[in-house]
Amino acid sequence: MISETDTGDEPSDGWFPESVAANYDDPGGANAPEVVTPAVDVLEDLADGPVLEFAVGTGRIAIPLAARGVPVSGIELSRAMAARIADKPGGAAVDVTIGDMTETRVDGEFSLVFLVFNTIGNVTTQDGQVDVFRNAAAHLRPGGLFLVEVGLPALRRLPPGQDIVPFAMAPGYVGFDQYDVVTQEFTSNHVTVTPDGQGRFRRIPFRYVWPAELDLMARIAGMRLKHRWADWDRSEFTAESTKHVSVWERGS
Ligand SMILES: C[S@@+](CC[C@H](N)C(=O)[O-])C[C@H]1O[C@@H](n2cnc3c(N)ncnc32)[C@H](O)[C@@H]1O
Repeated sequence: MISETDTGDEPSDGWFPESVAANYDDPGGANAPEVVTPAVDVLEDLADGPVLEFAVGTGRIAIPLAARGVPVSGIELSRAMAARIADKPGGAAVDVTIGDMTETRVDGEFSLVFLVFNTIGNVTTQDGQVDVFRNAAAHLRPGGLFLVEVGLPALRRLPPGQDIVPFAMAPGYVGFDQYDVVTQEFTSNHVTVTPDGQGRFRRIPFRYVWPAELDLMARIAGMRLKHRWADWDRSEFTAESTKHVSVWERGS
């Protein structure tokens, strides 16, 4: 079993250190064009001037958006993740600041701030998530937009007395979430076993947050809900939705 301390990762890179960044851009999954392109289409449509991505990662979304002529800046906690951006074609167009999206400020006034791929949940306290909304609003011009893409917790799949929901079971891999429905904290757990019997266990902490709670966070930060879609295709958000793409507008 390999523990996180054996990897040589830099602790200040948080949950996305070098050992994660090394494979983050592997083809398929979240990097597939059919996943990336619909998100970039919506973001390009909402942008009306410079945009800022919180937790920009390796530029999965920021770089193709910049390639369409949108001026893109980013804030990112992990130097290992951010280092990939400059090495990619078109990455030089993305202006990256290393910092924490709950408090780091970058110069400029933006038409759109966005935070995708469930990353609001990487901030594991309610106060911290409110700070993300406040920081987004502080970067927006009046009338500017804040967009969040985040999954909904699978609490309807929790029978009484159970706190674990499996989400993947494949040869050599088991994935499950473990919920604390009191604190709204949960962990995503990944067990990987190679054919030679070597194993790796990664547990990543999150905090889930309900759409209505996000709307209150937005109001605390001076923003109001403008759109809530079930996905990037702008389909209707319903009781059966498993995620949402929500957009709030900053007041004047
Ligand atoms: C799931 S990745 C998403 C990256 C990118 N937005 C994308 O869509 O591919 C989450 C990213 O959030 C970053 N992150 C987590 N907490 C952060 C924080 N408080 N401030 C800035 N970045 C953070 C991580 O380092 C990681 O790069």
